[in-house]
Amino acid sequence: MSRVAVFPGSFDPMTMAHLDVARRAASLFDRLVIGVLHNPKKSPVFPVERRVELIRAPVAELGAHVVVESFDGLTVEFAVRQGAGFIVRGLRAISDFEAELQMAHTNRRLEAGVDTVFLMTALEFGFVSSSLAKEVAQFGGDVRGMVPAPVAEALAERFRA
Ligand code: PNS
Repeated sequence: MSRVAVFPGSFDPMTMAHLDVARRAASLFDRLVIGVLHNPKKSPVFPVERRVELIRAPVAELGAHVVVESFDGLTVEFAVRQGAGFIVRGLRAISDFEAELQMAHTNRRLEAGVDTVFLMTALEFGFVSSSLAKEVAQFGGDVRGMVPAPVAEALAERFRA
């Protein structure tokens, strides 16, 4: 039996914490689809196509069973379309847990056949978030080590005065 999971998120942009979770999930599942949410109501720093592109390069090393797709609408519907029985989400700290638990229960209510699997991010990336990386980059700070190298370059370019 082939185990398929989706790893959904905004990924605006991908961080080292996301990459760490993707790496862990890649070793657990036969196919991992990283799903980049296209939410027309939000104004992301990077358009969805660019977010997908910025994930593809760092995850290439995880193997051909890891793919990146954009999606809109409900995560569970994306999971069903992908033939996935699992949603992967990362936990950096206990503070992530409450919102994640609520999402997991909502998703299970929507689609009982899709279960959520939480993976703990490596301790060294526990402080990393897309929003903080964006804030640091916006004020000219160095985000290397917080985000994959191509993302650090893209952020510097995006916020260059
Ligand atoms: O990276 P994020 O912003 O923490 O990811 C949140 C995401 C995209 C997983 C969540 O907002 C989501 O699943 N959105 C799609 C719409 C949906 O399915 N909503 C119900 C989930 S409880």
